[in-house]
Amino acid sequence: MTARKIIIDTDPGQDDAVAILLALASPELEVLGITAVAGNVPLPLTAKNARMICELVGRTDLRVFAGCDRPLARDLVTAENVHGKSGLDGIALPDPQMSLDPQHGVDFIIETLREHPEGAVTLCPLGPLTNIATAFQRAPDIIPRVAEIVLMGGAYFEVGNVTPAAEFNIYVDPEAADIVFKSGAPIVVLPLDATHKVLTNRARIEAFRALGTRPGHAVASWTDFFERYDMAKYGTEGAPLHDPCVIAYLLRPDLFKGRHINVEIETEGRFTRGMTVADWWGVTDRAANAMFIGDVDAAGFYALLSERIARL
Ligand code: RIB
Ligand code: CA
Repeated sequence: MTARKIIIDTDPGQDDAVAILLALASPELEVLGITAVAGNVPLPLTAKNARMICELVGRTDLRVFAGCDRPLARDLVTAENVHGKSGLDGIALPDPQMSLDPQHGVDFIIETLREHPEGAVTLCPLGPLTNIATAFQRAPDIIPRVAEIVLMGGAYFEVGNVTPAAEFNIYVDPEAADIVFKSGAPIVVLPLDATHKVLTNRARIEAFRALGTRPGHAVASWTDFFERYDMAKYGTEGAPLHDPCVIAYLLRPDLFKGRHINVEIETEGRFTRGMTVADWWGVTDRAANAMFIGDVDAAGFYALLSERIARL
């Protein structure tokens, strides 16, 4: 079986970290590179965290790049209140020894798509879409070469988590999201409608800790830290593991259900900046541009995640 080639674009972030570990634990996937973007915390930290995650599982062979340090047209909004000052609070990891690749993350995305056959590379954005949009703007020729964009972002029935209307990744850089959603590339969206159905809980977190491995301990510690914000905000027993849904979708799409619909990005609304206006009920004649996931088998998701993390 030939492994599916992916680029992970990320703003680690504890949930990004779990997603990266899930990808690295899965032989079905070949991670061509990890491109950091400003999001949960500023770029120097997301680029540092990405390398720490790779070193945690001995993958110093991986190429890690720094991408864009701010949104296309707005000031950066970060989320230390959710992820902690480091962006990866929950467990103390040593500073990375591996170097950042000297190439800019956007140039890596462009070069990789040009070098591989059309339809060979899948983009997996886990943060604001600034790097992806910048690559598409600089090199529109790569757009038809993208196999698929499978991203975490947006919301419809779940509405917003950073404002009443918008999910964080889209809110931070709505102009970038608008470029991506209008690009014509095949898009699968893992929105809050899906990720809010994969909540952590004590048993699931203790199962990671019971693995008795450093990766298992890290995943348990990250989710312990990460969940306190959502539990306080939503009054739920646990927190949604957003970004691992992207990788789980690649591995087991049968765990997910959605509709191919039109999704527009609000870039002008006074109260609705960053809203994903998803035509779930088909009330417009706007062309479908995304597979919008609305449901997930949570037990199947956690069984997959636990089994894979145990391999590290
Ligand atoms: O809204 C959730 C998303 O914002 C996740 O990707 C999380 O890591 C943050 O980036
Ligand atoms: Ca993220």
